[in-house]
Amino acid sequence: MKVLVTGGLGYIGSHTTTVLLQNGFDVVIVDNLSNSKVDVLDSIESICKIRPKFFEFDVQDKEKLDALFEEEKPEAVIHFAGFKAVGESCQKPLMYYENNLNSTFAILEMMQKHKFCRNLVFSSSATVYGVPDSVPLTESSPIKDATNPYGQTKIMIEKIIQDFAKVEDINVAILRYFNPIGAHPTGLLGEDPNGLPNNLFPYLNKVAVGALPKLNVFGDDYNTPDGTGVRDYIHVMDLAKGHVLALNKLKENCGLFVCNLGTGKGTSVLGLLKAYEEANNIEIPYSIAPRRDGDIDENYAGTEKAKNELGFVCDYSIVDACKDGYRFQIYSQIVSHIKNQK
Ligand code: WQD
Repeated sequence: MKVLVTGGLGYIGSHTTTVLLQNGFDVVIVDNLSNSKVDVLDSIESICKIRPKFFEFDVQDKEKLDALFEEEKPEAVIHFAGFKAVGESCQKPLMYYENNLNSTFAILEMMQKHKFCRNLVFSSSATVYGVPDSVPLTESSPIKDATNPYGQTKIMIEKIIQDFAKVEDINVAILRYFNPIGAHPTGLLGEDPNGLPNNLFPYLNKVAVGALPKLNVFGDDYNTPDGTGVRDYIHVMDLAKGHVLALNKLKENCGLFVCNLGTGKGTSVLGLLKAYEEANNIEIPYSIAPRRDGDIDENYAGTEKAKNELGFVCDYSIVDACKDGYRFQIYSQIVSHIKNQK
């Protein structure tokens, strides 16, 4: 099966591409490099010994997207492309609504026109659950108004796709990710955000290699065992595997399928920090800072549906993610040092 991966050079897209290639899928990537680097293509080739076809353009460009569909005739799309920084979305709501919605409209219009493409996997997020009434969060937990425009775009896109699937004979998997962390075990792929990291794990990575002085822990007065925020941290390689399982389910012509992808376990900020220190035998300096607007006390996934209907179970642990994340940081520093020497 030929799969078009939008945003395929990004963090989750690139890891998913490696697992797709290693499972015999034919992959075509489209990415505008707004939050990724073309070097990632070399890393994918080094890992898989296959260099997927890559088209550099914005998914919102319907003319180019149509030409790609005509030329490549993908049977499925995994739609990752979109802006995803919670804080930035609060500062630039129009940019988020325009980019995330228009890129989705473009993909759906292509699927409406090109009937050879009947399968769609959408990269959604646990943020659609808003402030949970209870945990674990299951797929039947209420969808609430998101606390930020980024989350709101995920809620809107889920609804748009579900309404589209009612009138278009397609199979759709909506996957709600919890908190992706870690990196490819080879150290060749990982999370490499431009600028100051918004999320906890990439920030930890930078502190670990001395690129940032310390971690600011946003609040220690939450209603959690150690007072710091609790989240469900899932290894990006497990998340990638979840997409292959979802594509295999779509092959069964399942119609619409909505599923959480998480570990089912919650870890606090200080818990993740300590796991990172122990996994890598290093010390991470930190200080307690004020709460961050929009943060919730805790969330973690109900995993029954993923296990029973996808056959999804996690292979990697938090310790694996901490080791893999740190290894990627070290390797990246070595590579950039060598490049600077030239
Ligand atoms: C996790 C915990 C912070 C940074 C968001 C999106 C979600 C997904 C992941 C895209 C919280 C604390 C963080 C720091 C800290 N996005 N923290 N110091 O907010 O749970 O989820 O990012 O895929 O859709 O909603 O993730 O990593 O930002 O925060 O103490 O420097 O770490 O307060 O408790 P979040 P996060």
